[in-house]
Amino acid sequence: MAARARARRGAAAGGSSAACSGLRAAGAARARAVAARAAAPAAAGDRAQDKKGILEAFTGGGVTDIDPSPLVQWGADISAGAIADLRAAGKEAQACRDGLPVLEPSAGVVRGDLAAEEADLVARKEEFLAALAANGALHFRGWDLMKDAEGFHRFYDALGMDPCLDPIHSVAARPVSSAEHKIYEAVNKPSRSNYVVGMHNEMVGTQAPRYAGFVCFKPADEGGEFWVCGGNDLFHELSIPLLEKMQQKQVIFSVVEFPMGFLKGLSEEVRENVAKPLIKAAVGVAVKFKVDFDVFFRFVDQGYDGEMALQGYASPQPAVIRDPVSQLPVYFCNLHSHSKFLRDDRQKALGELQKTTGASQANKTDVSYGDDDMFSDEELREVDRATMKCVKQVAMEHGDVMLLDNYRTMHGRGTFKGSRHNAVAWFSRVIA
Ligand SMILES: [Fe+2]
Repeated sequence: MAARARARRGAAAGGSSAACSGLRAAGAARARAVAARAAAPAAAGDRAQDKKGILEAFTGGGVTDIDPSPLVQWGADISAGAIADLRAAGKEAQACRDGLPVLEPSAGVVRGDLAAEEADLVARKEEFLAALAANGALHFRGWDLMKDAEGFHRFYDALGMDPCLDPIHSVAARPVSSAEHKIYEAVNKPSRSNYVVGMHNEMVGTQAPRYAGFVCFKPADEGGEFWVCGGNDLFHELSIPLLEKMQQKQVIFSVVEFPMGFLKGLSEEVRENVAKPLIKAAVGVAVKFKVDFDVFFRFVDQGYDGEMALQGYASPQPAVIRDPVSQLPVYFCNLHSHSKFLRDDRQKALGELQKTTGASQANKTDVSYGDDDMFSDEELREVDRATMKCVKQVAMEHGDVMLLDNYRTMHGRGTFKGSRHNAVAWFSRVIA
């Protein structure tokens, strides 16, 4: 599988620094017949949405016949000592910068003529892909084609985006919006409506899709803006000493936590010498069976609920890498969404979270330096300050699509009221 994944990565790279000058090969669009299937009505599914996730954790949600998410392309190391030099000239000196152009149908396309919109996408594929390579993110607005799942499928086919499985497919924590069209649910659960999804690149363990297409099937009654943040913009905004420290020590994320408060009832000798080693080994085997990346475990006296817990951590990673297409240095680190401190800080202002079901319960993450040192509150607040300064908040309309280079551009979303139905498809590469 590793060899296959590597081969895919090679094919997926498909670009170079030349991308900044807008050069991109175009090819004939794939012809693919797709069965008509409208997106599920959003409001009716609200209650069901909260229950999604448990069954799909064991079934994969029914998305089949596409490749797994590609492996992360870490690229050549950027040393901590190189950070200041990379920052010295400023982003103004670069061949291209993070942006978010708005792309509407061509003037001659009659509103509501879906075939004409699809033909327009096919005809302008090269233009759009060049814009994506230059800016890292595109906002498609004013198209009727992408108002349902079938049309969104035609959209990504027209641009040659090759869909892949969710990077957490092996644990299937994400509900499926349309298995037929390879589309997953965004975080629409009503129980998570007063929760900010912090800024992150889609990356789980060793897997990261190359591109992401977020589509709006129904905007929330209020709020629910889609957030994007350019990784190069953030690289240029963050404190240089903090970036250097993160790059030198690296960063690790805890990916899962198992409450172990019941161990308190055991004698210290049994707990330390028998129960803990046995549980650690058993959980390690069980998790290894479900995920194909390395997770190591450690007991903590105070987990997320203040009780003893067993936490699983992914391997240490750098905070800054080079975007595989533009070769720009980008902040590629999910601290803003994964830091318990920042999540709690945001929630203080937003009110208590509702109880949730399914995968969100296990989705308790935290972050530390690679040598186990914790980030200081000031350091975490600096990441939040810089991130939110770079964030663009977009109120997506029905049919809008945000097409992101997952290495260049982070995503998240604000809180909302009422029902919301956004969905996402992941892509491994562009088919020429
Ligand atoms: Fe995400």
